[in-house]
Amino acid sequence: MCGIVGYYGYRDCSDVLVDALSKLEYRGYDSAGIAVFEDGNIKIAKSKGRLSDLVKKMEKTGKPKGIAGIGHTRWATHGEPSDINSHPHCGKNVTIVHNGIIENYRKLKDYLISQGKTFVSDTDTEVVAQLLDFYYCRHSDPVKAIIETTEDLEGSFALAIMFNDYPEYIFALRRESPLIVGVGENESFIASDVPAILKYTKNYYLLEHNEIAVLGRYGAKIYDLHYQKLQKELKTADWDMDAAEKCGYEHFMIKEINEQPTSVKTTVLPRIKDGMPTLEECGIDDSFLCGIRQIHIVACGTAMHAGVVGKYAIEKLARVPVNVEIASEFRYKSPILDKSDLVIIISQSGETADSLAALKLAKSLGAKTLGIVNVKGSSIAREAEKLIYTLAGPEIAVASTKAYMVQLSVMYLFAFRLAFAKGKISQSECENYIKLLNEIPDKISEVIENQLENSQYIASKLINSDSLLYIGRGLDYALSMEGSLKLKEISYIHSEAYAAGELKHGTISLVTEGMPVIAVATQDDLFDKTISNIKEVKARGATTIVVLKDGVELPSDVADYIISLPKTIDLLMPMIACVPLQLMAYYSALLRGNDVDKPRNLAKSVTVE
Ligand code: AGP
Ligand code: GLU
Repeated sequence: MCGIVGYYGYRDCSDVLVDALSKLEYRGYDSAGIAVFEDGNIKIAKSKGRLSDLVKKMEKTGKPKGIAGIGHTRWATHGEPSDINSHPHCGKNVTIVHNGIIENYRKLKDYLISQGKTFVSDTDTEVVAQLLDFYYCRHSDPVKAIIETTEDLEGSFALAIMFNDYPEYIFALRRESPLIVGVGENESFIASDVPAILKYTKNYYLLEHNEIAVLGRYGAKIYDLHYQKLQKELKTADWDMDAAEKCGYEHFMIKEINEQPTSVKTTVLPRIKDGMPTLEECGIDDSFLCGIRQIHIVACGTAMHAGVVGKYAIEKLARVPVNVEIASEFRYKSPILDKSDLVIIISQSGETADSLAALKLAKSLGAKTLGIVNVKGSSIAREAEKLIYTLAGPEIAVASTKAYMVQLSVMYLFAFRLAFAKGKISQSECENYIKLLNEIPDKISEVIENQLENSQYIASKLINSDSLLYIGRGLDYALSMEGSLKLKEISYIHSEAYAAGELKHGTISLVTEGMPVIAVATQDDLFDKTISNIKEVKARGATTIVVLKDGVELPSDVADYIISLPKTIDLLMPMIACVPLQLMAYYSALLRGNDVDKPRNLAKSVTVE
């Protein structure tokens, strides 16, 4: 959520800050601002709205000129999005930008007011600025002021800070909210995520909780809260610049949909040895798997939907019971866990606050934990006992596509190995599943090629609807949930996913003339049942879009539109059938003129509760 950047070097700082912030736009935001030391004084430009609004404003007022500064894209949590509430915020001697939430800000604010401080914004952030100022007045030492301030703060946050008296330095602090320190030739950076710095350097330090960075002429130094200088391991990003660029595509979302075949191969191939799935490099061997009695998959949004598909696969093949839980529910419901339970946390960003809290809770209750995470070195990746990285590369569009696809791949790999370890499938059955999984990338490419225009055409028929339904049974229902989320988050059309057989228990009353119903019917053993349910909605006037396998006979007058897909075994069909659902969501959003990659009100990485 939100983006923080900072720069000290030789380039035009305003340009670097705006460019770096543009690489963090995907995280979601509602206002933007920068502060730069210009001739020894801090000059601020900030604005509600997009980064382009800030740039326009600076074209009128003049952009700050200098070589050191900080920048921010805000996703409002305290106080409405407005120019005043936009960051940076100031105390008498300090200027800061902040990502996260200060939970005890009210108490601190009351105290600071009693000490004569005044506030201009409604943000929790301004409390930090005033508190820093308070301690700086006491110590005249920026790092000591940061340490004392941090001790008073509750919550999760990352800060970038400038002190009026130190125009040669930029300071930063991380607690929970992610922050990296980029290291270039005669320049250094602060950023919430790697894509912001890739244009300038691939080398960076990952700040740990409660670490302070100081950027200056000599490069970057890092301290702990005892003011001890730390030696950190310099990491090198294995993403190239293209990962953070659209490379000719109109949007990141469509680029990422197209990247899915490669992402699946990259994720699956290293986990296959002699035709068998192997997770030993992730610390998961057969004796670990044999000890699992029950599985809980805990995640949010799309990642949780990948978990629902995983549940079907694991229960069907390995006969191990699986609960899928929404992380924000799980963390507050006193779950019943013991050491034979495995809690799997799925997360693209690895920073989702609720998922991270669920993971910590599971550990504290003695369960085994496994993270399935895309972002290397993220909080969930570091907290989980066992870890499988999905290797999709950076996902920039807020609407998750390729990350979902690789989460499915890992769910299948895990289910196959678990089933084999538990003796529920033979080696040759397991090898056959792997062979079929290896065929999926080509089938995804085929769908993208053959269904692009059809999906676009069908999307054009959906865009004037107020509401629609996705229905399916079994794995088709699991997939419908993701199809529905994808559509609503970027097209802003209301939709609901429903188990097809459950419709008649209430929801069918919503169906009126012309209401679109997208029916996913890829499962052979459930096909006839689903067709009956499609007929039920058709009889009530619904416009039906049926997603099914190539060559399957559909009774006449059931479907208004058909999406037919290359075949694989039913178990793996979600990896193929999700593609047209993604494409229909993409084109619906595009045709409605929405900001496809950065839908309103949403953030890519949800680091607050
Ligand atoms: C997906 O399109 C959404 N942006 C959202 O539901 C997302 O999957 C959810 O916030 C979980 O994020 P995570 O995978 O980074 O934990
Ligand atoms: N809580 C702060 C605010 O509302 C920061 C939000 C963010 O992370 O952008 O301004």
